[in-house]
Order: sequence, then C-alpha cells, then structure tokens
Amino acid sequence: MSDLILRASDVSKSYQMGKSPLHVLRGVSLTVRTGEFVAIMGSSGCGKSTLLHILGALDPPDKGTVEFEGRNVYEISRRQRNALRNNAIGFIFQFYHLLPELNVLENIMVPRLVGTSILAWRSKRAAIRKDVERVLEQVGLTGRLKHRPDELSGGERQRAAIARAIVNQPRLLLADEPTGNLDVQTGKRILAILTRLNEQGQTIVMVTHDPAIAALAHRRVHLADGRVTDGPSQSAPADIPAVIR
Ligand SMILES: Nc1ncnc2c1ncn2[C@@H]1O[C@H](COP(=O)(O)OP(=O)(O)OP(=O)(O)O)[C@@H](O)[C@H]1O
Ligand SMILES: [Mg+2]
Repeated sequence: MSDLILRASDVSKSYQMGKSPLHVLRGVSLTVRTGEFVAIMGSSGCGKSTLLHILGALDPPDKGTVEFEGRNVYEISRRQRNALRNNAIGFIFQFYHLLPELNVLENIMVPRLVGTSILAWRSKRAAIRKDVERVLEQVGLTGRLKHRPDELSGGERQRAAIARAIVNQPRLLLADEPTGNLDVQTGKRILAILTRLNEQGQTIVMVTHDPAIAALAHRRVHLADGRVTDGPSQSAPADIPAVIR
C-alpha cells in the first residue's frame, strides 16, 4: 500500500430543483491508496452515489478536482476520459445497469469490445472469450452464459455486473451498494468476492450505508451534510469479516 491512486479535493455538487439548489456535496476531500479497500458510508440521500459517480469520471463536480493517478479526470479530453472509464476504472452500479437485450456473456464482453475494430476482434476473439470466462469463474457464474438479465436472480445479476466491471482488469473498482438489493446470504457471497479481489491486489471503493458491511473495508469515510465527517467509529468489529468466508 503505497501510491496514491485517487485524490478528490474540495468536491462540491448541487442539483437545481425548481428555484432552489440542492447542495448535495459541500467540499468533500478524500484520498485512496493503491491496494486499499475503502468504504464510503452515510444515510440514504446523503450523496454517496453522487460522490462515487464523480470519483469514477462519470459526472463532473461543480467545484473541486478529482485526480486519478495524478491526472485531473475532468481536464483530460473526452476521448481520454472514455478510455479511463473503460480500462482503468470499473464501476458496479447501484442498480446493475446490465443491458437487457444482451445475455451474460455479451454483457461482460461489452467493455472488451469498446475500442476494438472488427478486424482486431477477429484476432482477439479467443483471448477475449478467455478473459470473460476467467471473470465469470471468479464470480461463480459459469453456468449462466446465455441467460439475459431478466432470466437471472438478483444475486446473479450483481455477479454479472461485477464480472463486467473487472473484465478489463481496472486499477480501481468502484462499487455502489453492491449488496443493497440482495438478501443477507447472497450479500455475503458478493462481499466475499470483493474481499477476495482486494486480497489479490484490487483497489476498491465501496459505498454502503451498512456498518457491518463497511467493517470489511480497511478504512471508512463518513459522509453527512455534504461533508466528510469523523464518523461514529474508525475501528472495525473484529468478528465480522470471518462470517463471509
Ligand atoms: N439528477 C438529480 N437531480 C436532482 N436531484 C438529485 C439527482 N441525483 C440525486 N439527487 C438528489 O441528491 C441527493 C443525493 O443523492 P444520491 O443518489 O447521491 O444519494 P445516496 O447517498 O446514494 O442515497 P441512497 O443511499 O438512497 O442510494 C438526494 O437527495 C437525491 O434526491
Ligand atoms: Mg445511492
């Protein structure tokens, strides 16, 4: 754990609702080091997803900067930002966002196909297929290649979304409430996958409102009233990680 991979400085974001602005983030600063597993916590509506999208180069802040590996992600060209989002940052969305008309295999292939010409696709097809099979194995979804999202359970959809987020071996994985829509047992399975990825070196920033889930991370960042606060506790309950193994 040494290099800084992500630095957000004084990030602010408002939404205009009718005449009055809704100030969601009011100067949030945080850093993440390579190899870390950080949990962003806070109550519903406090701006966790908003912040994660900003950190993931998906939505620019009104004010402040986000640096990924030392580069301001909102000052590089759109093309460079797209490449960053496709190759370097994996995003697990709060509501999966799988493409409904594609099956599991195709959904996970999408990030590999972006930026690949038809000619290159021919020569890379076998390698891409291998990569997809590797991540499907990692998330335990090898038996569901031909299923479309509406033919999967919630946990299977989440696992497909994780597989898609990691297929390009991103240097940073952002996960927005990865267990939020799942039953406890399925949630534990998803967390076990994320913990294992982190043990293998994957840097992860995970949003959650659940202290038991946040306890699995190395470090917790609390968000309230648009700012990072000290939060109720910086220490993890010692017995929780064992239950997901
Ligand atoms: N596009 C938008 N336009 C207007 N308001 C928005 C928009 N997106 C989010 N908000 C508002 O900003 C606030 C923060 O939303 P956000 O989705 O970041 O919260 P959250 O902490 O992720 O909540 P949850 O835990 O319920 O997912 C909420 O009050 C929400 O209503
Ligand atoms: Mg959210």
